[in-house]
This record gives sequence, structure tokens and C-alpha cells, in this order.
Amino acid sequence: MSKYITTPIYYVNGEAHIGHAYTTFIADSMARYEKLKGEDTYFLTGTDEHGQKIEESAQKNFKPTQEFADEISAGFKNLWDDFGISYDKFIRTTDEDHKKGVQKAFEAIYNKGDIYKDFYEGHYCVSCETFFTEMQLVDGEFCPDCGRSTNVIKEESYFFRLSKYEDALLKHYTDNPDFIMPRSRANEVINFVKGGLRDLSVTRTSFTWGVKMPESIKDDKHVMYVWLDALLNYVTALGYGTTEENMSYWPASVQFVGKDILRFHAIYWPAFLMSLDLPLPKHIGAHGWWTRDGEKMSKSKGNVVSTREVADAYGVENLRYFMLREVPFGQDGDFSQRAFIDRINSELSNDLGNLLNRIIGMSGKYSDFEIDSSDVLKYHKKELDAMNIVLD
Ligand code: ME8
Ligand code: MG
Repeated sequence: MSKYITTPIYYVNGEAHIGHAYTTFIADSMARYEKLKGEDTYFLTGTDEHGQKIEESAQKNFKPTQEFADEISAGFKNLWDDFGISYDKFIRTTDEDHKKGVQKAFEAIYNKGDIYKDFYEGHYCVSCETFFTEMQLVDGEFCPDCGRSTNVIKEESYFFRLSKYEDALLKHYTDNPDFIMPRSRANEVINFVKGGLRDLSVTRTSFTWGVKMPESIKDDKHVMYVWLDALLNYVTALGYGTTEENMSYWPASVQFVGKDILRFHAIYWPAFLMSLDLPLPKHIGAHGWWTRDGEKMSKSKGNVVSTREVADAYGVENLRYFMLREVPFGQDGDFSQRAFIDRINSELSNDLGNLLNRIIGMSGKYSDFEIDSSDVLKYHKKELDAMNIVLD
């Protein structure tokens, strides 16, 4: 059985910070582990480049949107290359094949009767690219996720029949208790679905920076909602809707995400896949947040730690070690320079460094600096004999 491991595709509205590096380190470690075991493994990462947020960021930087996206996307790719991240493909949602695949998927869902046209009226947060109901808003105006002010939008839109998949989703969570990992995160998803799913608006007419509608639907006013576009990257990267060349890797073994986007991956994504008659990923692994002074580190809050700067100052291996070691998967962690330095000093220099020193010292004393595994086993001959284990 082959393995397929993914990270989220990161928005190109700002440089990579250590939150992005964290997910990428986790996925990279898992992919390396599978490859070491000899598993046929495909590891995907990339960038999410459409939507109003990116268009606005480009404008703020006085750049054409594509040029701006090219620059930031290259920044992510160069960083991962410098870090030796072992990805097999770096997808960009502005890739032609991706756009074709998304159009194919839209067409398939539409032809199945799961997409229809109507009007949308709601409170929209541009920063999160998400609609909220009146009830969800903080003080009747602010986004419950990022705290920014929302806008009321009324527009014609195509809708995906998310409500139709409520029961199938709930059944899937029950039948596959490890679908959402850690398991402790599953309840919030299940409760959200039980609270009733409303059909999802999957196109926009208020901006143009997005994947166009399929030819067969002929409705040029609309572009696709970024989350439909973005989630589909996990299959278009394998050739869905174009070459199909790597579709044998689907379904994914594990898709790593931060808990901020668990709902999209554990509800919308499986519903889209069900509509497309594709199997669901085996696991969605949702990790916690890196915080600064207790607040989530995020571009919109402006409290991010630059990955490049930390890696330059302390070395990427130290950073990778610290991030994976400091926080049990699923929990939040505060990024503190003190904790980082302490772990490098006590665990890497003292513990691991001393162990290595002793091994070198002993191998010099007892075997003239030559050790191979058979030598090591020789010292355990008595124990092996006692267990009737014969080595050749
Ligand atoms: O959400 N702590 O992109 P994004 C831990 N394009 N992880 C963090 C983090 C933090 N403080 N901040 C970010 C998007 N991350 C969409 C995804 S996928 C089809 C589309 C990591 O640039 C974490 O993995 O906002 C989080 O889920 C992701 O970056 C969000 O990156
Ligand atoms: Mg985000």
C-alpha cells in the first residue's frame, strides 16, 4: 500500500512563519519515516494563491497579482528547499493543470445535481475567506476567528448541497473513530455537523482573481470560492481531471493541518469527495497553535516569528528538533526563545552530545574507533545465546 502525505497549501499573502514550518516539519518527518521503511510515498506541499485576500495583498504592495503570488510562492519553495524538505511535488493553485482539474471537479459535482444557483446574503470576513451568520459574529460585527470586522455581502452564487451529506459525514466519523486525530478534536467537528449544515456558497462575483467556471456552465461573472479551489489541490496534484498519472496514491494516508482549518478538512473536503465518488483520506491530523504571549501567531495579528530568521540564527535542525519535541501533537505551545535554547543545551548538547562522546571514547578504547553492528552484537553474545538467537 502506497502512502500519500500532505500539508495545507499556504496563502501567498505573507512570508512563511514558524507556524507554517511546523506543519511542514511534521509532514516531512512522517514522509521520511515512510520512505525509510521502503514505502512508496508521495509527499505534497504548495501554495494557495487565489481569492480576494491575495488580490488585496498584491494591491497593497503595488504589484500585479500574479507577480506578487509568484514572488511569495517562490519564497516558500526556496525556504523548503533550503531546509531539505523532501516533498515530491510543490503545487500552486495558479498551475494550469490544477485549474483544469478544479473545473472538471466543479462540472462533475454540478452534473450530479449537487450544485445549484441562488443568492447569498451574509457576513463575510475577507481575511478568513469565510461567511458567518449573525449569531456567530462577535458583538454583531467581528469575525469569530480573527477578530476583524466583517462586511455584509449579497450576491448571486452557486451553492454546494452540503446539507445532503450531513448523515453520511456523521456515519463516517462514527465508523472511523481515527478519521480525525487526535481523537479529542473530533467532538467539535461532530457537534458542528449535528448543529445542522447549510449549503455552501462555492462561487463569488465580487472579485475576479480565481478559477473560472467550466466552459460547459458559461457563467463568466463567477469565479470559484477559494476553499473549493484550494481543497481540490490534494487530488489535482495527482493529476485529477488531467493526466490522472498519480491518482493511485489517493486516498491520502494522512493530511496534516492546523486546528484553524480542521472544519474545512473534516467537513467540506469529505463532502466534496463523496460528491465526486472519491474515497476519503484515512486521517486528518490537526495540530495545535504556536502562540506568542498566549495569542495565536498569525499574519493578520502581525505577531509572527520568521522561520528564516530563527533558522539562520540557530540552525534548521535545532529548530526542527525543538518544534517537534516541545509540543505533543494536537496541543498548543508558546514559542519562547528561552525554552528553545534550554532544549538545545540540555537535550542536544548535554544528553545527546555526551552520549555521542562516550561512544566515541569507548570505541577508541576498545575497538580502535571501528564499530560495525556485528561488533556491537558480539558484546551481547551471552544474552543472545540465552535467548537461542543465532546471528549469521
Ligand atoms: O489556511 N501555529 O493557509 P494559511 C501552528 N490556504 N500552525 C500554524 C500557525 C500557528 N500559529 N499559523 C499557521 C490556509 N499555521 C489555507 C489552507 S489547504 C487546502 C488551504 C499553519 O497560510 C497551520 O498548518 O493561513 C495552518 O493550518 C496553516 O499554516 C494555515 O496557513
Ligand atoms: Mg490562516
